Amino acid sequence: MSYSIDLSGRVAFVTGASSGLGAQFARTLSRAGAAVVLASRRVEKLKDLRAQIEAEGGDAHVTQLDVTSLASIKSAVAHAETEVGSIDILVNNSGVSTTQRIQDVSEEDYDYIFDTNVKGAFFVARRSASACWPARGAPRRAPIRAAASSTSRRWRA
Ligand SMILES: NC(=O)c1ccc[n+]([C@@H]2O[C@H](COP(=O)([O-])OP(=O)(O)OC[C@H]3O[C@@H](n4cnc5c(N)ncnc54)[C@H](OP(=O)(O)O)[C@@H]3O)[C@@H](O)[C@H]2O)c1
Repeated sequence: MSYSIDLSGRVAFVTGASSGLGAQFARTLSRAGAAVVLASRRVEKLKDLRAQIEAEGGDAHVTQLDVTSLASIKSAVAHAETEVGSIDILVNNSGVSTTQRIQDVSEEDYDYIFDTNVKGAFFVARRSASACWPARGAPRRAPIRAAASSTSRRWRA
């Protein structure tokens, strides 16, 4: 099936863009015309991807983000808005998983995954929505794609 979409003039904020699905989401959104903000902890990886996207003629920006820190989320979204503009599309993709047997998962392991995949994803969505909705609170447009959904299936009994 072939399709095309024009996202010219739109700003896409992609978390977990330093590898895997996030990097591919960012490339795809850029090829559709969006300016992409690449966010995660490993800035050097993000800069490599920015160079690849720019080499294709795209518009990419890098911001450091740790989704387990509310201060980092606030700072990254503010940086995106200042440098690129209001966020139109959020790809809420940052996530971690484990291949441990469920019997081996400690409370610290659980908290690490929950803080990243659930709490982190929620507060990224909350901050991005606050930033891209007008002051009166009515939604303008804010498609959100959440990717961190497979953790439980990766735990083995
Ligand atoms: N691959 C699959 O088959 C599949 C299926 C269903 C769902 N998913 C979900 O899709 C997402 C991406 O999967 P993937 O396979 O592409 O995994 P991946 O290659 O390991 O990518 C995970 C991304 O999350 C970022 N990340 C992790 N912790 C972070 C934190 N505290 N703050 C900010 N960013 C953080 C990592 O960047 P840094 O290390 O640079 O921070 C990395 O870019 C995950 O949420 C995963 O659970 C994957």
